[in-house]
Amino acid sequence: VDANTPTQTLKARSLEALAEYIKDGRAQQIVVMTGAGISTSAGIPDFRSPKTGLYANLARLNLPHAEAVFDISYFRENPEPFYTLAQELYPGKFRPTITHSFINLLYKKGLLLKLFTQNIDCLEREAGVPDDKIIEAHGSFAKQSCIDCKKPYPEERMRDAISKKWVPRCLDLSCNGLVKPEIVFFGEQLPEAFFENRTLPAQADLAIVMGSSLSVHPFASLPQFCEEGAPRLLINREQVGDLGSRPDDVLLLEDCDSGVRKLAEACGWLEELEALWAET
Ligand code: APR
Repeated sequence: VDANTPTQTLKARSLEALAEYIKDGRAQQIVVMTGAGISTSAGIPDFRSPKTGLYANLARLNLPHAEAVFDISYFRENPEPFYTLAQELYPGKFRPTITHSFINLLYKKGLLLKLFTQNIDCLEREAGVPDDKIIEAHGSFAKQSCIDCKKPYPEERMRDAISKKWVPRCLDLSCNGLVKPEIVFFGEQLPEAFFENRTLPAQADLAIVMGSSLSVHPFASLPQFCEEGAPRLLINREQVGDLGSRPDDVLLLEDCDSGVRKLAEACGWLEELEALWAET
């Protein structure tokens, strides 16, 4: 590559090379790692994009700092800001994007070893990816419980609390602790399933990282578990983590939806992908 070759050509050629690698059947165990950037085109803001990100739009909650809304110690003192926000975040009214369908396509082709997601919107599951293929590293809204005695809390009462913006408390009146959906707050442990599977990327023959700033650990370290010889593809508006530092890394620095369409087209899967998404 001579000095004045536009980087785009370099990336495009790498994408072609990666598509050959996949078409030659050399990618049988693909690990996918996702963040909020894969759901922004579904209408769910991400966290850190300037202006549009959630953390740039929480002034009305007068938090000490934006991330406090998901901080367990702040929540214990002031649960209201989270419950004000929860209504906007609660899953159910958003449609999966073509990027979510791309992950489902990998599963349908028997190529998905595991999906690690940081998202709590459940859109991967709604796109058809089965439970046993998903590690929800930052939990999800699927369950809720008391943060003190851990007693489970009924879903319909949680939906009621979220829709009416009141703060639910433990059903055991002698406890009366705060109830919280089982999404992982700052200061809380990630689910066991994350730690049990965190070295799985070492078994992958391809890693695909999409829509994350890779700014929150321990999730952010996942791509580093990939073996040196395995290509790592980043589809993201910006370069993040250590992606790009290895000779086999491929960077598609653009919107996820256009990036997955380009990859699908290069693999000869675009029609199948569009049809799969159309029925989602
Ligand atoms: N296409 C491609 N990239 C996108 C798109 C898009 N449509 N939209 C946003 N991005 C990129 C942004 O440029 C950014 O690099 O996705 C990334 C989103 O980063 P964050 O907003 O930090 O989201 P995420 O990485 O998922 O945050 C991690 O932080 O607050 C915690 O627990 C929360 O799980 C979350 C964690």
